[in-house]
Amino acid sequence: MVKLKTNTKLKPIKKADLQVVKPVKTTKYSDINLNEWKNYEHIKTDTLWEFPTRLKEGGHSNEYHGNYIPQIAQQLYERFTKKNDIVLDMFFGSGTSGIEALNMGRRCIGVELKDELAESVSEKFTPKELVTDVNIICADSTTELAKEKVKARLDIMGEEQAQLLILHPPYDDIIKFSDKKEDLSNCATTEEFYDLFEKVAKNGYDLLEKGRFAALIIGDKYANSQLIPLGFECMRRMNNVGFITKSIIVKDMQGNERAKGKTANLWRYRALAGGFYIFKHEYVMLFQKV
Ligand SMILES: C[S@@+](CC[C@H](N)C(=O)[O-])C[C@H]1O[C@@H](n2cnc3c(N)ncnc32)[C@H](O)[C@@H]1O
Repeated sequence: MVKLKTNTKLKPIKKADLQVVKPVKTTKYSDINLNEWKNYEHIKTDTLWEFPTRLKEGGHSNEYHGNYIPQIAQQLYERFTKKNDIVLDMFFGSGTSGIEALNMGRRCIGVELKDELAESVSEKFTPKELVTDVNIICADSTTELAKEKVKARLDIMGEEQAQLLILHPPYDDIIKFSDKKEDLSNCATTEEFYDLFEKVAKNGYDLLEKGRFAALIIGDKYANSQLIPLGFECMRRMNNVGFITKSIIVKDMQGNERAKGKTANLWRYRALAGGFYIFKHEYVMLFQKV
């Protein structure tokens, strides 16, 4: 028979032994635990973004001239989406938004004008992923038809609207993406570019859930010896369709410049002779649908 000790003394609990478990506190649009905010040092909260090198791991490559660097998606997804949320990218290109959505447990719908590109980008995903996680639509994002197609995919994915909008349009005619007349890089004038951009912004606005965010990635250009501030006019067009502006982030371009090294001296000469400065930045502009 086991003899019970009757004189066992319970140690008094000291205050320091008590581990206080704080409840998880998040915003409506992100999984960041605000009660552990000091643990998110990798998340940027200031308006100057410097990424010395482009991330090449995790399924990303630099084969598409004009793609954005994956670190932009990483920053935006962690701050402005929750797990399983849907990111809508209306200028899908080589699919950076989709690849990073998968890497981070989010879903994505991408719209791209060029059918051959949409097809080749599909090959980056498994047939199952293309049903459940990443939906690629070949369409002209300015149109009502594109909007209807996105709605149909949202429905299949069990959502009415997307939770983050990404817009990375051509920077007017700086890089020609195709000969298609619907291509924003093929506009006859910059005014036409702005008007088509505004149509895409309106479609994006309608497809986004209230309270959620939109990111516009864009740079400016020079033409006829003057600066054309594409970024600021596109920001105004975002406001026209109903978005409020939350932040203008300046991002350095070191990570995504290609072959500039070879022509750097020529550009330097042109800058000195022409009285202008060489672009070293682009913008990540943030908006909210309130
Ligand atoms: C700057 S790139 C986007 C690159 C993309 N973010 C990536 O990382 O690969 C712009 C893309 O928009 C596409 N595009 C241009 N006009 C379009 C339109 N009207 N509708 C849909 N896509 C369009 C171009 O074919 C091009 O692939």
